[in-house]
Parts: sequence; structure tokens; C-alpha cells
Amino acid sequence: MSLQLDDFLITGRTFEEYAAFFDLDAASMKNTRVLDCPSGASSFIAEAKKIGIAAQGCDILYRYNADKLRLQGEKSIEKIYADTGWMADNNFAFYHSIERHKEHRISALEKFCTDYNSADYKYVELPKLPYENDSFDLVLSSHLLFVYDDRLDLTFHEASIAEMLRIGKEVRIFPLVDYKNSRKDELDNLSPLAYQIAEKFDAKICKVGFKFQKNANYMMKIKK
Ligand SMILES: C[S@@+](CC[C@H](N)C(=O)[O-])C[C@H]1O[C@@H](n2cnc3c(N)ncnc32)[C@H](O)[C@@H]1O
Repeated sequence: MSLQLDDFLITGRTFEEYAAFFDLDAASMKNTRVLDCPSGASSFIAEAKKIGIAAQGCDILYRYNADKLRLQGEKSIEKIYADTGWMADNNFAFYHSIERHKEHRISALEKFCTDYNSADYKYVELPKLPYENDSFDLVLSSHLLFVYDDRLDLTFHEASIAEMLRIGKEVRIFPLVDYKNSRKDELDNLSPLAYQIAEKFDAKICKVGFKFQKNANYMMKIKK
């Protein structure tokens, strides 16, 4: 099953957020070939290219033009921040305030829309990826896998990750909890699919410095 435009609020995260999610050392990544998959309205690519990282992105959203994505992105930001009650219990060590959290979304959308072009941003429909084997040194996947484990099953996860490993040398995934963080107080608090995927692909589950949702500061690292 694949998700469509109506299933999503269009959101994007910034380079600073990705660096924290994925424990990236930007200074050592010059010329590294990175795929942001799926990239949504993230500004990772725009910002990464500015510092010499060979970044590209892909998403099912990229069948739409920049005007449509901007409009839907602006509506999504309005909707998300109309009620921020769900954020109250989160850890604000990274964002400092809800206003700063929102600023990341606005900044990401603006930079993404300005940079959006058909060479760097490709329409894809996971679990298939239209890239040659070993096209990338690193594939980053934020806020799709595990997050929608109520709609995307184990087969989708396995096939998507196998495809990411075909085109990239290393895959990193964040977060490993579902979108409600529904097991935040349990001992095994990650999505059940995360444990199954870790076993199948011999993945490492690594603690990262980024904190926001309770007990969600884990990233998955899979090497080919
Ligand atoms: C919550 S957004 C995350 C975007 C970005 N990685 C971030 O962290 O801001 C999830 C993205 O997954 C994309 N998506 C959902 N199903 C997909 C599929 N089958 N193939 C490619 N992209 C998909 C959506 O269009 C959406 O942009």
C-alpha cells in the first residue's frame, strides 16, 4: 500500500534537525552522495548542497509542482500549529519553544520550494526506487518507516529497506516509534516492526542526542 497526498500533511525538516536525527558530522560529508528518502518538504537537500554534500531527494509528492506543494505546505503548517497541545509533554532541549519548532517547519518549506528542481528531486513510489545500484553513500529516511506502522506493513518496510540498500551503502532511519509514540512508557517502546527489521537486516539501533518525543531518541543504521 502506498500513501497519497491526502494522507499527509506536507511537512519538512531542516538540515539542523536531520543532523541531530541521524548523528551527521556535516564537516566530514563533503562530496558524500546522500539520498533523502522520502524528502517531503525538507530543506536538507538545499542546505546540504550549499556545504558541498551531493544531496538528492525523492518522494511520491514530487508529481506536483512547487506552487501546489507550497500551498499544501502552508495549509499543513497552519493546521499543525492550530493545536499544539500534543507537544506539551515533549522535551524542548533541541527546539527550546513551540515557536522555534514552527520556525523550523516554515524555514524548511521555504528553502525546499526555492530549491525544488527535477534534477535533484525525483518522483518515486516506494518500495521501488529508480536509481542504479550503489548510487549513494548514504540514504536517510525520516518520518515514514515505522511512523506509519498502522498503514505500512512489514512487507512494505522490508521491500523499501532492501531497495534503499541496493542503491546505497548505508541506510539510516529515524524515528523508530509510531506517530503517536504509543509505546513510550513500555520497555520495548519502539515500533514492533523496528525489532523485526533490525533482526532481518542485522541493523544497529543507536541512541542519538536529539530529544523531542519521550524515549524516541533512537536511529537505525543498516550497512550493506
Ligand atoms: C512525514 S513526511 C516526512 C518528510 C521528511 N523526511 C521529513 O522528515 O520532514 C512523509 C513523506 O513520505 C512520503 N511518502 C509516503 N508514501 C510514500 C511512498 N510510497 N513513496 C515515496 N514517498 C512516500 C510522503 O509524501 C511524505 O512527504
